[in-house]
Amino acid sequence: MEKRDELYAGKAKSVYTTDDADRLVMVFRDDTSAFDGKKKEALARKGAVNNQFNAAIMEKLKAAGIPCHFEKMLSPTESLVKKLDMIPVECVVRNVAAGSICRRLGVEEGLELNPPTFEFFLKNDDLGDPMVNDFHIRSFGWATDEQVAEMKALTFKVNDVLKQLFLDGGMLLVDYKLEFGVFNGEVLLGDEFSPDGCRLWDKDSREKLDKDRFRQGLGGVVEAYEEVGRRLGMTFEY
Ligand code: C5P
Repeated sequence: MEKRDELYAGKAKSVYTTDDADRLVMVFRDDTSAFDGKKKEALARKGAVNNQFNAAIMEKLKAAGIPCHFEKMLSPTESLVKKLDMIPVECVVRNVAAGSICRRLGVEEGLELNPPTFEFFLKNDDLGDPMVNDFHIRSFGWATDEQVAEMKALTFKVNDVLKQLFLDGGMLLVDYKLEFGVFNGEVLLGDEFSPDGCRLWDKDSREKLDKDRFRQGLGGVVEAYEEVGRRLGMTFEY
C-alpha cells in the first residue's frame, strides 16, 4: 500500500489517497480546534495519542459486531481506512447533559438523561453545524430511511459497548459524536472515536478528561487523554 496525495485537510486530521482506490490513509495531527475553528492550538503528542486511541476503540467496536471503516494502524499517527461516501451529518448520543444541550434547553450540566437522547447535526462549518431531524435528512436526500435507521441503531449499539468499557475504567461516557458513510451499499462507522469527539468524566470526582479541557482552558489536555487510555490499558508510542 502506497500513500499518495492529500485529498483534504480537516481541522485535526488529513486524509491521503493510496494506490488502492477504495482505501485512504488518515493522518492524525497535533492541531486542536474548538468553537468552529475560532480557537486553535497544536498540542504535542495529541495526533499520536488520538490515532492509537481510535485504533483501540475501533477494534473493540469491530469485535462487538459494529461495521467500521478502520482497517489497521500504519504508524503512530496514521491509520488505513476504507474510503466511504460520507453521510454529511453528525450523530450525537447523550447519557448526561453537557455542552450545547445545556445552552439550548436550559438544563443543568450533569443531569442524567434516561433514556439517553439522540441528536443529528448537519456538518456545515459556515452554518455552525445546525441541529437537523430525520425529515430534513430525507427531504434533502442526505440519506435514505434505511440509512437513518441504521445510523441510529449503530450509534446506540456503540453506546452499549463504550459506556461499559469506560465505566470499567472508572469513567462516565457523557456524550459522543459519530459519523457514518457508505461502502458497497453498507453503512459503516467512519471518522474517529477519541477524547476529541466525546465527553468523559471521572466517575467519582467528575473531573473532565476530554476536549472540554481545551475548550474551557483547563490545561493538561493531552495528559488527560493519556490518562483515559492508561485506565483502559492502552500504551502509546510516539
Ligand atoms: O457541543 P455538543 O454538546 O453538541 O457536543 C456533543 C458531543 O459531540 C461532544 O462530545 C462533542 O465533543 C462532540 N462533537 C464533536 N464535533 C462537533 C460537535 C460535537 O466531536 N463538531
